[in-house]
Amino acid sequence: MTAVDLGLPAVPRTSSGTRPDTPALIDPFGRVAADLRVSLTDRCNLRCTYCMPAEGLDWMPGGQMLSADELVRLIRIAVESLGVTNVRFTGGEPTLRRELEGIIAATAALDPRPRISMTTNGIGLVRRARALVDAGLDRINVSLDTLRPERFAEITRRDRLGDVLDGLAAAREAGLSPVKVNAVLLPGINDDEAAELLRYCVDNGYHLRFIEQMPLDPQHGWSRTQMITADQILELLRAEFELTPSSAPRGAAPAERWLVDGGPADVGVIASVTRPFCGDCDRTRLTADGALRSCLFSQTETDLRAPLRSGAGDDEIAELWRATMWAKLAGHQINEAGFAQPLRPMSAIGG
Ligand code: 5AD
Ligand code: SF4
Repeated sequence: MTAVDLGLPAVPRTSSGTRPDTPALIDPFGRVAADLRVSLTDRCNLRCTYCMPAEGLDWMPGGQMLSADELVRLIRIAVESLGVTNVRFTGGEPTLRRELEGIIAATAALDPRPRISMTTNGIGLVRRARALVDAGLDRINVSLDTLRPERFAEITRRDRLGDVLDGLAAAREAGLSPVKVNAVLLPGINDDEAAELLRYCVDNGYHLRFIEQMPLDPQHGWSRTQMITADQILELLRAEFELTPSSAPRGAAPAERWLVDGGPADVGVIASVTRPFCGDCDRTRLTADGALRSCLFSQTETDLRAPLRSGAGDDEIAELWRATMWAKLAGHQINEAGFAQPLRPMSAIGG
């Protein structure tokens, strides 16, 4: 197998091992991270079975979480000193953070202004979509795995489908563009709904992306044989739609895109497991308790909270950030022998 088959960077690790003198967040494989994912909380108001147990998890204690001011300071350093151009707020569920609009507004006030997006389960958007747009939110991704109320209640353990669908409509009406929908298909649970989800999204002007299930659940229930692969998703969709590869440049975007019935509507498939795209990764991640991660699957992280709270200057923080990204591995290793899940579950890292 070649590096390209594994989705690994084509550039080999630099032989000198010395980090070039650049302010940007580069890694030894030539990738530059300009997309910052900020998890605002590990809490959630749903309990998706593939994400957390019914009783929830041991949430981060409040004192360990970064304050809004601390978060904004780190985002400012990333944008002003490290070349970050896109900031995505995630969770857990980011709308559970009361200061969300304030954090977005402070991010939007940075120079140069980054593009601002959010990944949310959609609950509460009906009430907040307008305020979020006013604060500076540009784009949104809403998670939606089924259109059937009983199934929604089974998958998320909460009877809130109506809130999510209303939230999606509110996001569109508030002017967020594009409105993306993220769906995870689970065998025997909702894999018969792929085409229905696509029809619903096309009819409503939402951009649907299916995400292959990744080994990030705290229950360690993920199994390669129990996941729906990108090839299976495409086959399910092709039973009802004509799909042609989209010619739009993919860049660092994780989704492979297909035009639906000739376009202009399209559908994305994020094949993190079966067709990894680590070679094009441009992400850097910050958790709600102030840990920097160079990858969803990192086994190590860099604590920024302690230096932040003991008076470190912006330059010192920026240098810690650069060093963290310089230690980024080539890929996530899900498909290699000896792969181990990260200690943090998805809900404490952010999507
Ligand atoms: N694999 C793939 N996607 C996941 N999500 C949550 N857990 C997983 C997982 N193990 C999705 C959610 C949401 C986004 C943040 O990630 O459904 O859409
Ligand atoms: Fe909440 Fe998202 Fe996890 Fe579902 S997948 S429980 S919406 S954090």
